[in-house]
Amino acid sequence: MSPKSFLLSDAIHRYILDHSMPIDEVQRSLIERTRALGDVSGMQIAPEQGAFLTILTASLGARRAVEVGTFTGYSALCIARGLGDGGRLLCCDVSEEWTSIAQAHWEQAGVAERIDLRLGPATETLRALDDSATIDLAFIDADKRGYQDYAEQLIPRLRPGGVLLVDNVLWHGAVIEGDGESDGDLAHIRAFNDWLAANDAVDSVMLPIADGLTLARRR
Ligand SMILES: C[S@@+](CC[C@H](N)C(=O)[O-])C[C@H]1O[C@@H](n2cnc3c(N)ncnc32)[C@H](O)[C@@H]1O
Repeated sequence: MSPKSFLLSDAIHRYILDHSMPIDEVQRSLIERTRALGDVSGMQIAPEQGAFLTILTASLGARRAVEVGTFTGYSALCIARGLGDGGRLLCCDVSEEWTSIAQAHWEQAGVAERIDLRLGPATETLRALDDSATIDLAFIDADKRGYQDYAEQLIPRLRPGGVLLVDNVLWHGAVIEGDGESDGDLAHIRAFNDWLAANDAVDSVMLPIADGLTLARRR
């Protein structure tokens, strides 16, 4: 399994995996099933990131979680596993094809009943949520153009101390390379990173996990 992080060699990645919560048979099956999809499989989060999601969700005692960008369901499986008793995860995606793979694996893992999948543009799903500040954990990993809008919808709905996680914030290191493109994913990621760093509703830190993961805690 090659590292998703441009910062890691194969050897140090192997060492990290060998010293982190191991993946189980359902996760292994989901990785293999996703790999069979071809190049798009690169969208799946890294296994060490999955372990981090499970541990953080459990540490927060999270009972209400939201994910934007579910794909074949690996990150959702990891969040769902960390939820406290009676916890629920709302998943937003637009692809019936990819999320059908997710649902089959959630069933196998015994977490399907904790997950509500909404198919449709995440902006619409999030706008329809109640306004209460009760979300314990949210994870954004969808179209980069939408990142700021998703965060603007989610941050006010986080409980104080609740956490927003955002994937791909280092964009393979390209965030610091030259001027880059003025439009496209890189530009959206850069604009989002600047916006969030200046957002005084949260305290945030960028973690060099996988392709860069921002953790922002609601004040
Ligand atoms: C990077 S993948 C998510 C990977 C996933 N977190 C995992 O662990 O495998 C991005 C997902 O965002 C979804 N997506 C793209 N645009 C979207 C939108 N406007 N609303 C909701 N989901 C969207 C895509 O269908 C895709 O499944």
